[in-house]
Amino acid sequence: MTDRTPDPELFDKIVNLSKRRGIVFQSAEIYGGFRSTYDYGPLGVLLLRNVKEQWWRSIVQTRHEVVGLDAAILSPPQVWEASGHLDNFSDPLVDCTNCNNRFRLDKLDDPETCPNCEAKKSFTEPRAFNLMFKTFAGPVEGAGHEVYLRPETAQGMFVDFMNVLNTSRKRPPFGIAQIGKSFRNEITPGNFVFRTREFEQMEMEYFVPPEDSEQWYDYWKTERMNWYLDLGMPEDTIRLREHDADELSHYSTGTADVEFLFPWGWDELEGVANRGDYDLTQHANHSGERIEYFDQATNERWIPHVIEPAAGATRTAFAFLLAAYAEEEVNDETRTVLRLDSRLAPYKVAVLPLSKKDTLTPTAHEIFDIVKGKWMCDYDETQAIGRRYRRQDEVGTPFCVTVDFDTLDDRAVTVRERDTMAQDRVSIDQLVNYLSDRLPD
Ligand code: GAP
Repeated sequence: MTDRTPDPELFDKIVNLSKRRGIVFQSAEIYGGFRSTYDYGPLGVLLLRNVKEQWWRSIVQTRHEVVGLDAAILSPPQVWEASGHLDNFSDPLVDCTNCNNRFRLDKLDDPETCPNCEAKKSFTEPRAFNLMFKTFAGPVEGAGHEVYLRPETAQGMFVDFMNVLNTSRKRPPFGIAQIGKSFRNEITPGNFVFRTREFEQMEMEYFVPPEDSEQWYDYWKTERMNWYLDLGMPEDTIRLREHDADELSHYSTGTADVEFLFPWGWDELEGVANRGDYDLTQHANHSGERIEYFDQATNERWIPHVIEPAAGATRTAFAFLLAAYAEEEVNDETRTVLRLDSRLAPYKVAVLPLSKKDTLTPTAHEIFDIVKGKWMCDYDETQAIGRRYRRQDEVGTPFCVTVDFDTLDDRAVTVRERDTMAQDRVSIDQLVNYLSDRLPD
């Protein structure tokens, strides 16, 4: 357990940095902004890609028993009938009869008082509000043409289970993993990109022999915690919380949340759930297809149980930003630095010619060309060098490479490290080796 307390001021600092440096923008801002929807700017898209890349690497690339999938976002009602989402995927919605605002009953601090106008006992009876976005396929709107935007990526893995099993020749325990957008018509989105109506998930369904499900459930809880720690989340900002029995979803025999200490307190980053055989059984019953594993060695057919680590990519990127943010005093000035793990940093290297003189530009371009094929690099030649270092620090760039007038004579550059600010003189022909030693994939 931890002594660290939430830092409410951090929230505004990250929102401001995100806007100022092109990490996250309010969507449709020129039209007044589209509430709860965000665009990832030039730096945000790199951070988000790196988070997803690290997840994919740890879940798919480095495991022979896990394969990937990219299933469709639009899906017919049958999928969501079988999964239980049409009946169950709803939140209790109440309206305030005084100010007409709507709230999720289960998220109200005081279910008797409207948090907007402070009226007492002004709420309507709660009604179930289904969170799925419905639209229509084809030119005709109406019954029989409804389709849904997926509210989770998980169902793609269950619906395609037999296709993957038959084509990949895997046998339990094995996993199917997917990263992609999901959509939920959240009643109360908020806290910046923490809860949005359009977001990205990173989910894996791990199919195991039923008798081994508890063991794999424990395994994946540990693995997933280690992933965050390995990518630099401080130990006292992250914890695993087992759900109480009354919190469990209808299908789950065990769920634990990976929680992060957000500026407003502990909140969910990821759920790891033991889903039993619920999903495969439901889809078998609803589709009339056989969905099971046939073990040729024993001549037995059985339905695998599923362990699911389900993370939010956008939410996780936000948490990494919060965890990395630091301010420190350097030479009587406040230096803002994002101490992101280099694998997550948007740019790994910034190439900075000392001045914008024509004499330095060709060599600076030559350096950029040497490093650009291996890493995402920035190139910046405006402003004083100290200002440019600070600009790279605040977006987490691990290394700045400065080309100065000596470079023209000694074919060497100055490499400055973000956290220590230590500088090394490195010859150009050793630069890629030098950086490779310090920038793991
Ligand atoms: N297949 C199981 C599932 O979808 P979930 O707990 O509803 O489980 C998994 O979602 C993760 O997706 C959450 O832990 C969170 O990180 C992310 N997530 C869910 N709803 C979100 C939203 N409205 N905005 C951003 N991320 C969300």
